[in-house]
Formats: sequence, structure tokens, C-alpha cells
Amino acid sequence: MDLSEYIRNIENFPKSGIQFKDITPLLANKGASEYCLDKLLEMIGGEKIDKVVGIESRGFFFGTLLAQKLNAGFAPIRKPGKLPYKTLKEPYQLEYGIDALEIHEDAIKKGERVLLHDDVLATGGTAKAACKLIESLGGEIVQCNFLIELEFLKGRQKLQKQLVKSLLKY
Ligand code: PRP
Ligand code: MG
Repeated sequence: MDLSEYIRNIENFPKSGIQFKDITPLLANKGASEYCLDKLLEMIGGEKIDKVVGIESRGFFFGTLLAQKLNAGFAPIRKPGKLPYKTLKEPYQLEYGIDALEIHEDAIKKGERVLLHDDVLATGGTAKAACKLIESLGGEIVQCNFLIELEFLKGRQKLQKQLVKSLLKY
């Protein structure tokens, strides 16, 4: 199956010059999303994972599904002001703007083996901030796992310490 057939390219969204990779056609198709989940799991191999961390919002879709399949817990990383309990905060530069991410202080226990998942690796700012949050809590990042990598934006260069895997490369 060619998963790229289920990724819709939207020109100039949300800003001029940005090519938005829309995964909603993939989510809408049961067979394609099951296949995608299997492929994401293959990238993880037999690694033991205690917790999957998904980044708001598009990292939640496959992040929670991966957690179930890996028999792991799930923890969300969210945009500021969304998490109700005590949080750690990390600012980051986005492909189109600046923002910050937060995680609950008790989301990860020291020494837990963590899989970070997001839909897209673009400039890498989001994932780098997420890694900092996970490591601040003592999590051991086993892999940074992405559905899509926009290679021309060189996000991997920001994640040099990490094992980075992606299913579809543009
Ligand atoms: C998008 C995408 C990744 C991030 C990648 O999320 O889902 O999370 O940008 O960009 P980067 O590698 O340049 O940091 P966005 O912040 O648009 O929010 P959303 O997932 O809630 O749509
Ligand atoms: Mg996102």
C-alpha cells in the first residue's frame, strides 16, 4: 500500500509558503490507518516501551494507538495552558511562529523508556522541545517516531542525540 496516496498536500496553509501535509484522508480510511499503525510499529521493532508521548494535536492520533499496541501508557505534551496539573514548560521555534509546550510533572517516571511520536517532523523545533521535557523528567527516549519527515527542513539536525525514524519522507 502506498500511504502517500492518503496524505493530502495543501499549498500555503496555514501561511503562505507552507506546504501542509493533511493526514485526515489517512485517518478516514480504516485499512490505510491500520496499515500505517503496523508500519509505525515495525519501525519500533521489539523495543520495550513504558510510555508513548504524543505531541498536541496531531501526534495524539497514532500516539494513543501506538501506546495500546505497545502495551504502554500514553502521556500528552500540550500547548500552554491546556494541562490542568503542575507542568514543565519549554519554548520552541515553529516552522510558522513561536510557541511553547508543556508536560505534566508526573507524566513520566525517572528511567521510563519513552517513545516520542508526532505526525510530522519539519524544522524539528517541536520535537526538540518535547525531548527536553521528557529528559527533564528523567525519561529515556528510545526513539523519536514520525509519520512524515520533511527532509528539506533538516529537522533531524536538531535531534542529533536521538534515534529518529519516519515512515514517509518528502
Ligand atoms: C505541526 C506538526 C508537528 C510540528 C512540526 O504541528 O503536527 O507537531 O508542526 O513542526 P516543526 O518540526 O517545524 O517544529 P502544529 O504546531 O502545527 O500543531 P497541530 O499538531 O496542533 O496542528
Ligand atoms: Mg503538531
